[in-house]
Amino acid sequence: MNKHLLSIDDVSAGDIQEIFTTAAEMHDVQNRQVKKLPALRGRTVINLFFEDSTRTRSSFEIAGKWLSADVINLSAKGSSASKGESLRDTVLTVTAMGIDGLVVRHGASGAAEQISRWIDVPVINAGDGTHEHPTQALLDGYTLTRRLGTLEGKHVAIVGDLTHSRVFRSNVKSLTKLGATVTAVAPPTLMPAGVGDWSKAAGFATSYDLDEVLPQADAVMMLRVQRERMSGGFFPTAREYTVGYGLTRDRLAVLEPGTPILHPGPMNRGLEISADAADALDSLVLDQVSAGVAVRMSVLYHLLAGEETSA
Ligand code: NCD
Repeated sequence: MNKHLLSIDDVSAGDIQEIFTTAAEMHDVQNRQVKKLPALRGRTVINLFFEDSTRTRSSFEIAGKWLSADVINLSAKGSSASKGESLRDTVLTVTAMGIDGLVVRHGASGAAEQISRWIDVPVINAGDGTHEHPTQALLDGYTLTRRLGTLEGKHVAIVGDLTHSRVFRSNVKSLTKLGATVTAVAPPTLMPAGVGDWSKAAGFATSYDLDEVLPQADAVMMLRVQRERMSGGFFPTAREYTVGYGLTRDRLAVLEPGTPILHPGPMNRGLEISADAADALDSLVLDQVSAGVAVRMSVLYHLLAGEETSA
């Protein structure tokens, strides 16, 4: 496995399976009364978040703590970054304290990779702009594998604001590595530029027609409409978006019974996903959250347990 996890490109199909195997063991810890393993005792991890987050940050924090690491959360709001310190200085400063791993979320695509060139400890990308969010894709793949047995030959529809989605980009790479085929569904304005080139890759297709894709899907992943990354109108009205691309109650009926529904959160209920779909028996939304801790424990373990401490 690579030293860093910056992108799904850093892990092979074999690495992903290894991460899943360890995650399954870590998952058992969640059901114990005493949720502690000694694997990262004496190691220090900093979660450096320059963008808002609920689940990713707390999930990394819990994962580190259950492995007995010391975990420090730093958010840009309230740090020296808001006083004008450069990203490089912030990163070098926290690293100089003697940390063993850095989990970073940043609004700029490529930020995690840039940081990994400045410091010597493993860097885990917790989301960089619209580029990648590898641990989200790994936890999605893990959740789906547990539900479907294997992803080999399975067809996953990924639907929503794909232009702005790092979850989409990481998932296409990860799901196809695991043998699934992916159909990306979005209105033309939210389909990433250049996506046609990806179609040349095995197992990837695009569509503007959700109703055509849904009946053939073995799983459906709905993605959030990311208004905060939009400048201008990507669709006429919210209502029109929902009519064309929302997982509405009517569309639920079109799915094969038992088809799992995923959403990385945060959900815009009533926009890209109806309450009926979000709360459906086949919704895996909370399974994804729970798997997130196990998968991040596994990633932290694989990247940090073997490393020499820098202290
Ligand atoms: C995603 C993110 O931040 O990229 N959320 C998450 O990590 N669970 C997706 C999103 O913000 O819509």
